Amino acid sequence: MTCQSLDRINMDEKHIKILKDLGFDISQKDLTNDYWKKRAAEALALTTQDRDVYGCLDHTVGEGVRIFDIEGTEYLDVTGGVAVRALGLRYKPYHDFEASINDVVHELPGMDFDAIPQTLLAERVAGITPGNHKKRVIFTTSGGRAVEGCMKSAMDLTGRRRFVAFRPAFHGRTGYALALTSSNSKHKSGFPQGVDVIRVFYPYCYRCPYGTTEEDCSLECVEALRYALEVEGNDIAATVMEPLCGEGGLIVPPAKAVKGIYDLTKEIGAYFMSDEVQAGMGRTGKWCAIENHGVVPDYISMGKAIGGGYPMGASIGPAPMFTGGARHSETFSAEPKMSLLSLWIFKHLEDGEYLKKNVENGEYLKKRFNELKDKYEVIGDVRGLGLMIGMEIVKDKKTKEKARKLRDSIVKNAVQKQKLWVLGAGQNVIRFTPSYIITRENIDDVTDRLDKAIREEM
Ligand SMILES: Cc1ncc(COP(=O)(O)O)c(C=O)c1O
Repeated sequence: MTCQSLDRINMDEKHIKILKDLGFDISQKDLTNDYWKKRAAEALALTTQDRDVYGCLDHTVGEGVRIFDIEGTEYLDVTGGVAVRALGLRYKPYHDFEASINDVVHELPGMDFDAIPQTLLAERVAGITPGNHKKRVIFTTSGGRAVEGCMKSAMDLTGRRRFVAFRPAFHGRTGYALALTSSNSKHKSGFPQGVDVIRVFYPYCYRCPYGTTEEDCSLECVEALRYALEVEGNDIAATVMEPLCGEGGLIVPPAKAVKGIYDLTKEIGAYFMSDEVQAGMGRTGKWCAIENHGVVPDYISMGKAIGGGYPMGASIGPAPMFTGGARHSETFSAEPKMSLLSLWIFKHLEDGEYLKKNVENGEYLKKRFNELKDKYEVIGDVRGLGLMIGMEIVKDKKTKEKARKLRDSIVKNAVQKQKLWVLGAGQNVIRFTPSYIITRENIDDVTDRLDKAIREEM
């Protein structure tokens, strides 16, 4: 890890001058969380997270897993920018590479005209995704649009218009993707749904919706889908599944359930799509998290970490992917600089054996969290693959009743008192998606801070 020591912790004069030169009269005395949160609330339509919990981040400082608010308070970050920052903040080799390509012509629309970087990136992306079949790639500017690129292709190739999706699930907040999403009513109520969806429960063994245990499971979740297809119709373009359910509560489905759903999808002549926006890019120890379940999807959507912090997504599908040219595109997709940065990330993750490290560090993180689980009645479940881990907060282990308020207060305490920058997921889960450069020492520190937060809130 390349953390440099940070002796200055308030925004420095250089960066204040940059803002002044841009026409804003800002001085050191304005650098408080309250001032900027109030100003943000007047300017921005919304935030997805609670301003009562989180401070205003300083965009000019931070290294690795160390993140700072505008008052100079340091936090240990376990969100990785919601799985965006594979290599943490201001990773030196990445910055050096970025500086070395500053002279490329980067204002070229990636899907309108050919250029070398996006072609190489498409080859690279197709190469790391499972299956030896012929693939094609479309680049996008977000994860949700990557999902939609796949959905459009599946509709184009099959002539069908309906999808299978799960509850809970998160696939984005725009049009077609929003129709698949079902993790929080705030995301979708009141908005018309772009496509017709058959929705069944996500395989969730800790709270099996069919009341079975892992021992007596007969894949009731797969049978529920079979029944839904029989009674609602099986004219399905694709089944869209997160390989680990992220936003909906960090759920790890059993491989046999994913395989059952995959097989059923194939039986009805539909495509199977893995939404890797959060779980992909090596986070779980495989380039694509679906590889953990042993199935080869027809479609894959990628986002977040693939752009190395820049807005990029990719839709990967079976060749020819679309029935003709111009059926789908985005002006800003995969412009050359972003594509080169993405190629660098792929190479660096591979050379640095980060996929292997993610498995090792993830196991260690789970081991430490399981120690907390043994200690506290309110930790019902610790689960995850690689560096994608969830901790489910319950009233007690026996009833498993969801402790939503307690989860919220633990997160608030962790952020505000223990200085652990952490996020919730689903209704009662705490989510950990740290950057891949996290160390064992950091993990011990995370565990201690979380321990204190739980103890103080119980
Ligand atoms: C699995 C999954 N799909 C899609 C998205 C949407 O990505 P974006 O916010 O970049 O549109 C997300 C975002 O969290 C996600 O986790």
